Amino acid sequence: MSGRIPQDFIDDLVQRADIVEVVGSRVPLTKAGREYKARCPFHTEKTPSFWVSPQKGFYHCFGCGAHGTALGFLMEFERLDFPVAVEELARSVGVEVPHTDSERTSTEPLFTVLEKAAHIFRQALRDHPAAIDYLRERGLDGETAREFGIGYAPAGWDTLLSSLGTTEVDRAHLLAAGLVIARDTGGFYDRFRERIMFPIRDTRGRVIAFGGRIIGSGEPKYLNSPETPLFHKGRELYGLYEARRAERQFERMLVVEGYMDVVMLAAHGIRNAVGTLGTATTTEHLRRLFGVTGEIVFCFDGDRAGRDAAWRALQTSLPLLQDGRQIRFLLLPDNEDPDSLVRREGAEAFTGRIGTSMPLSGFMIDSLTRDLDLDNLADKARLAALAKPLLAQLPAGVYRELLTEELARCVGLPRNRLEELMTGGAPLPAHDQKPPQRSTRPVRPQDAANRRGSLGRQAISLLLHYPAVASQIPLPHALLSAELRGLELLRELHGLASSRSGVGTAALLERFRGRSELPHLAQLLAEEQLIGAADASTEFADCLERLVSAAMQQELAALLQEASRRTLSAEELSRLADLQRTVVASHGTARRGPDN
Ligand code: UTP
Ligand code: MN
Repeated sequence: MSGRIPQDFIDDLVQRADIVEVVGSRVPLTKAGREYKARCPFHTEKTPSFWVSPQKGFYHCFGCGAHGTALGFLMEFERLDFPVAVEELARSVGVEVPHTDSERTSTEPLFTVLEKAAHIFRQALRDHPAAIDYLRERGLDGETAREFGIGYAPAGWDTLLSSLGTTEVDRAHLLAAGLVIARDTGGFYDRFRERIMFPIRDTRGRVIAFGGRIIGSGEPKYLNSPETPLFHKGRELYGLYEARRAERQFERMLVVEGYMDVVMLAAHGIRNAVGTLGTATTTEHLRRLFGVTGEIVFCFDGDRAGRDAAWRALQTSLPLLQDGRQIRFLLLPDNEDPDSLVRREGAEAFTGRIGTSMPLSGFMIDSLTRDLDLDNLADKARLAALAKPLLAQLPAGVYRELLTEELARCVGLPRNRLEELMTGGAPLPAHDQKPPQRSTRPVRPQDAANRRGSLGRQAISLLLHYPAVASQIPLPHALLSAELRGLELLRELHGLASSRSGVGTAALLERFRGRSELPHLAQLLAEEQLIGAADASTEFADCLERLVSAAMQQELAALLQEASRRTLSAEELSRLADLQRTVVASHGTARRGPDN
């Protein structure tokens, strides 16, 4: 949660961190020109394609595409969450992370009030036989209930309010912790009433939220705490704390859907299950799980909704599947969930099912080929087309190799023929692909021009490599609203780079953490920037000038087309005349046509 740590601090930290030291203390680096190289720690390779650039504060692997800043490296290599990686990097630089005071003073009372609430709910469970009976009937034993801290919220609108909300400050804390709801007419009432209460704990065991189940039937069946400063649904996994406390090491972790699934599996001695709290599986969930295990098994319903959820989980997982990690799918029989199954069949049978769960490859191919006829060549091509973007998301490595092989077997084509179908000729970047010869690489001018690509791309690359040009050269007015490819990103980058003086390449890159543009930016950074620092601002200005001209030509073409369809307004006509004058006048200097 970067929101809690000031952005300026992260900018400076990333800028100050010595990426060569951060990477070099974990992976042996060899100096190669101005950069350093190594065998990539994120995939298996014989020859080094992993490069670290101290100037850019950036690493990049030409084999598997892994890339990032010193901060990103720590997260990936040490499998750390963002805030933990920030702490770690700050320690190595010798500075302290400035947790804002408001954060300190605002979260501690929330932890306290949540803990007190959990205590009140546990007490109440003892005093309410109907709630105990309900849990007994569901097969839950007292020991497991205690371990998970299960409680009961009695009927009434002010159980917590009356005992924990005597002062205004207390009530504010109850509200911020999600335990009470404000009335439109003023005042508050308890959120959870007449419900079995499941406390949700963070990795340190502190209660951060609750889920409450109605006894018997009724709507909603489960009520959850809202998002609060302590609780973010997309991050938390129900039962992870309890699992880690029960066992040190996990060969695999099971992802299930419900609170009761986690609890009942634990009651049967299956201690490696966690629940996603009614949300789709997120990247953050997966990162946390891969931090404790190499294999994740998704247990979902076998119905349509369950299959869809499994498919979404697959897509989310793909980019994280480095060698050594894998995912599998256990699709359950109709109308069963892990809770009902383990009660009916027992732990051994349930564990047996996990053993026979579907590997990623099987599930992927099975899902993709549902509506295809693989005796038909057109359908083979369709399968290849469907698989291509999925395979492309897998980091290069053993896993991608295996999956490609399996697909080839499945369509009954030799592998190279399949790759042709998928890529229209060029093979996927292989996992032992040679990096471009960097130190001795002669660059022919026409190659350079091609690689530099569109004007927008060039401008973005210049900004990334030399962020200082942003404050020297403002964006021309004409580019603030024009719509050319890449312009939106250019505007954003320019805004970021000029908002603080001295913001560097790595800090800029960090601002895009988690965004879909990041791989694209990393790609630009990995390419050699042929323009030197001394020429950067002239070149950037030149680029902008040509972009303006391209934007004008585009506008002119659009107006001319309109004119062929209808009569232009006086305003449009005058704009047209302006454009014609300018475009004709600049014709000699505009070296390229509209942005390609
Ligand atoms: P299910 O409807 O599958 O319920 O919801 P369940 O876990 O099997 O519950 P039991 O066995 O009837 O007690 C799965 C999960 O989705 C979330 C909860 O996290 C639940 O455990 N959910 C479900 C809600 O948040 N709200 C709801 O109303 C229902
Ligand atoms: Mn259930």
